[in-house]
Amino acid sequence: MSTLSAEIHANAPLKMGLEEAIRTRRSVHYFTQGAPLAEAQWRKLFELTALSPSSFNFQPWDFVVVEDEARRQELQALCWGQRQVVDSSAVIAVLGDKDPHRRDKEVLQQFQDNGYIDEDTQKAYLGAVDVVYPDEARKIEHAVGGACLAAMTLMLAAHGMGLATLPMIGFDPDGVQKFFNVPDDYIVTMLIAIGYSADKELPRQQRRGFDDIVYWDRFETVK
Ligand SMILES: Cc1cc2nc3c(=O)[nH]c(=O)nc-3n(C[C@H](O)[C@H](O)[C@H](O)COP(=O)(O)O)c2cc1C
Repeated sequence: MSTLSAEIHANAPLKMGLEEAIRTRRSVHYFTQGAPLAEAQWRKLFELTALSPSSFNFQPWDFVVVEDEARRQELQALCWGQRQVVDSSAVIAVLGDKDPHRRDKEVLQQFQDNGYIDEDTQKAYLGAVDVVYPDEARKIEHAVGGACLAAMTLMLAAHGMGLATLPMIGFDPDGVQKFFNVPDDYIVTMLIAIGYSADKELPRQQRRGFDDIVYWDRFETVK
């Protein structure tokens, strides 16, 4: 797609209905090479992604986009040689923030300013942050849970915009953390290759069915 038509495309509303988007999104392993995304596409993609829900609305996600070919070749070596790192248009590192306090005062002030809560409740909420996230394990949950919800929004939004994605966890976590200059209080939760599908995917694999995954009232380890 040329840059101009990509921009026009990005500014048009998504045409695909939600059910169709969910049913037809795929993890794409074959990209048409070399078509960069236009600025307007990046903006629309991340504007939609930012609407994802998060605990306390803390939005514990950040994204690092790498387009440069030489940088992506370096990254490929840290991703078990996965081809999609270099065949796609770009790779996005989805970062999760382990620190629930990073924006707590600002965001809880917004709750008050927007009429959700009064001042006393705001103070109670501030105190509740450490109750909900008391230790490292819960902080990791904060990071991963929030970032993964944003990643799913990103992949569906991309699909609706005519873009293809591949989420990837097959990488050397320490190497990738260093590659993106990510400090210890953030986690690279996944990488997402993004670009245009070459339409060569095999059919979608089986999914567990309703009776297998849904329990009523209480979970049981054996059904
Ligand atoms: C967190 C996560 C990590 C994944 N990592 C990889 C990966 O490193 N390489 C890969 O080829 N596919 C990866 N996948 C894609 C899955 O294999 C794919 O989602 C699954 O087989 C279902 O296919 P579908 O997304 O086309 O429905 C990953 C998916 C997720 C959600």
